[in-house]
Amino acid sequence: MVNKEFLNEEFLKSIDSIYEFSNNPISRLKISLEPNEIKSKLENLKINISQIESCNLKNNAKKLVFNDGDFNSKLMIIGEGPDQKDDEVGKPFAGDAGSLLNKMFEAINIKRENIYITNVINYRPPDDRKPTISEINRYSKFLYEHISIIDPKIIVIMGSTAMETLVGSNYKISKERGKWKDIIIKGKTYLSIITFHPSYLLRQPDQKKYSWNDLKEIKKKLDELNISF
Ligand code: URA
Repeated sequence: MVNKEFLNEEFLKSIDSIYEFSNNPISRLKISLEPNEIKSKLENLKINISQIESCNLKNNAKKLVFNDGDFNSKLMIIGEGPDQKDDEVGKPFAGDAGSLLNKMFEAINIKRENIYITNVINYRPPDDRKPTISEINRYSKFLYEHISIIDPKIIVIMGSTAMETLVGSNYKISKERGKWKDIIIKGKTYLSIITFHPSYLLRQPDQKKYSWNDLKEIKKKLDELNISF
């Protein structure tokens, strides 16, 4: 039994919890949505994000950057936030980091258009700075909803901001990358793997060998789960 007296919003935020405590068993099953339901839920989510108020990120950005790819995909990629190019075109991973992302997945025979891509935050931060904790907290509720709508079989968490948002802030990406983790979002457990962010790999190309290991691990898991592209 969970004693709710000891759990409050403030406490859960202070430990970066994304868990929803409940006395019910955690379900790995969820009724799948029909494509038109997914579409309309995504449209609503996008509208909700666009209506965010008094947001420094939104006020400084050109476009809302929401998603790209196939919303029926079993593979969901979560990056940090839009860069300059993404902000201009309104699509995630449209610039140099995106070109590398495309190559990374092509290396395991997966085309970009067959995966689903989003970010922790949906507006480009001024000067491409890392989003603050309060910005991440503000946008994370949209991200949880986003994941729940797409309901992927595998989530690829790219970089430390996405890792901190979905796994917790007490981790080091260099230690955690390449390991399979269960994350619980809106009462459902999702299989996820953390890997280096393409922007980091552009700055530190010698780290690509670790990403290659992670990509092979992803491919292996997709094969095990009979997911083909
Ligand atoms: N573009 C994105 O959409 N996300 C990132 O994290 C970086 C660049």
